[in-house]
Amino acid sequence: MAEFAQRITLAITGASGVQYAVRLMECLVAADVQVLLMISRAAQVVAATETALSIPGATAAQQKYFTQLFNAKPGQIKVFSREQWMAPVASGSGAPATMVVCPCSTGTLSAIATGASNNLIERAADVALKERRQLLLVPREAPYSEIHLENMLKLTRMGAVVLPASPGFYHKPETINDMIDFVVARILSQIGIEQSFMPRWGDALLQSDENPPSHD
Ligand SMILES: Cc1cc2nc3c(=O)[nH]c(=O)nc-3n(C[C@H](O)[C@H](O)[C@H](O)COP(=O)(O)O)c2cc1C
Repeated sequence: MAEFAQRITLAITGASGVQYAVRLMECLVAADVQVLLMISRAAQVVAATETALSIPGATAAQQKYFTQLFNAKPGQIKVFSREQWMAPVASGSGAPATMVVCPCSTGTLSAIATGASNNLIERAADVALKERRQLLLVPREAPYSEIHLENMLKLTRMGAVVLPASPGFYHKPETINDMIDFVVARILSQIGIEQSFMPRWGDALLQSDENPPSHD
């Protein structure tokens, strides 16, 4: 089997914004990252509701579907099912150094905050926390309840990074894809993967010979 530059765990849960996960996967595949993927049942419902994707129900079919969709190498996208406890992500000895939950439903957020571990996504996040690995959560809800905020604070204090799916507008997005890219660029930056589609803050200044006056 092919060797890959890096390996990460990606969980897609049932918050709105499955488009972020799809774009993220596309970027990861292009960066030669192997993706250990889990998709919650609710995420499949959300995907059917808000995208033209028709993600199959069975994990083997999902693996084939995403491999074809992104023209990934054989074995580059590995999909694991809800109770596949023998998967590498279920143990500290096998889990990758980074896990991203994108989008992260408030339900999964709560399960991670309490260590519920009732399905493989929750268990993989629990492993990431206990092993002090990188755990990046991309919640989407509005407004946030006190429960959501408490869970986010608790997880942040444990070392997880909460990166809300809230695109900025200072790059003057013209399309929905521009807004998706804004969030995905932030995720890639967190997990240390280069991207060239979204300029970084201050890039224009670095590339220019001019040094405009500061405002202080
Ligand atoms: C179309 C649709 C949109 C949803 N949007 C959100 C959302 O933005 N944020 C959220 O936390 N839950 C949202 N939900 C509810 C979750 O899917 C639901 O709480 C589910 O139990 C989460 O399960 P999971 O964490 O296993 O994916 C949505 C559900 C549907 C069907």
